[in-house]
Amino acid sequence: MTRLSRGRFITIEGGEGAGKSTNAEVVRSVLERYGFGVLATREPGGTPLAEEIRSVLLGPRDEAVDPMAETMLIFAARAQHVARVIEPALRAGRWVLCERFTDSTFAYQAGGRGVAAEAVAKLAELAHPGLWPDLTLYLDAAPDAAMTRISTRSLDRFERERRDFFDRVREAYAVRARERPQIVRIDANRDLASVQREIVRAVEGFLSVHGKA
Ligand code: TMP
Repeated sequence: MTRLSRGRFITIEGGEGAGKSTNAEVVRSVLERYGFGVLATREPGGTPLAEEIRSVLLGPRDEAVDPMAETMLIFAARAQHVARVIEPALRAGRWVLCERFTDSTFAYQAGGRGVAAEAVAKLAELAHPGLWPDLTLYLDAAPDAAMTRISTRSLDRFERERRDFFDRVREAYAVRARERPQIVRIDANRDLASVQREIVRAVEGFLSVHGKA
């Protein structure tokens, strides 16, 4: 009997308005073209409970939210998402494509809010022991251009942050990208066609090494 091979875990990261959802569609279509079954999901969210936590996290509120409370809510959602959706799918041989994961927490809660990166790493080990993305596509966009793209929508609690918050988020992503070879930085300041060409190249490059059983 042949054992079903485990799927791969791919994440898409980036700041506000970097084009994660549009480009996730590109990644999905490349994977499907190569015959992989894909489960597309997002964070915070991905299960009914985790989506409820997302609403709690994103809704604007008068009460100042403590950075550690925010971090723990994110990891509560993540633990549920990993246990109920991500791990079962990977075990069943499906490829999981997730918009945002723990690199977002290093960027936003450690970089943006000032939570210790060591605390984020410890919570990550508790919430998803041994599970890290096999490939992360990091869409790097300058905060100014990205904020213009989202300025027509009504803003959530994160999008209302000031410019210096997003500069710290971007810097923390840059640090993470230097530390983890699984992170591929894509310059998202260019036109969509160029960004998408580079994404296709990155995914095909990954498949040529990791796409076999
Ligand atoms: P999205 O709208 O880009 O999906 O993300 C929702 C917001 O949640 C976004 O502003 C970033 C924030 N976020 C964190 O601060 N930390 C995290 O770990 C995740 C997953 C999201």
